Amino acid sequence: ATIGISLTINGEVRELPVAPWTTLLDLLREDLDLTGTKKGCDHGQCGACTVLVDGKRINSCLALAVMKDGADIVTVEGLAKDGAMHPLQAAFVERDAFQCGYCTPGQLCSAAGMISEGHATSREEIREAMSGNICRCGAYTNIVDAIEDVMH
Ligand code: FES
Repeated sequence: ATIGISLTINGEVRELPVAPWTTLLDLLREDLDLTGTKKGCDHGQCGACTVLVDGKRINSCLALAVMKDGADIVTVEGLAKDGAMHPLQAAFVERDAFQCGYCTPGQLCSAAGMISEGHATSREEIREAMSGNICRCGAYTNIVDAIEDVMH
């Protein structure tokens, strides 16, 4: 059996039938083909699945889609506007803030959420605030450089 929910996804309102056990991550990737959001661990430990829900960053692998009925979701596909990269995307390119790129969508969404939270200002605080997003290539220095470029 499915349950009907309504989500705004990257600015578009969608009425969606979902199974009660479907995670927000699987809904995005499997049902909506928004495969920018990545599945790394599926256990809340890597951050590759980070999206913004009502402006706050969450691990979408840990959220059941039905629990987000009515929410406003932004995925990496929604960051660029009018054909222009989001400032974080431009800074990541500029600073070479990735190697394989698998963690990048999650890093970008997490950084966007972190900046709007407004708590982290110093380099140390940014590093701490981004610690839920693992990068196996170890591009952390460049990632923090890119985020700092956008913040300052
Ligand atoms: Fe969700 Fe790793 S896939 S935190």
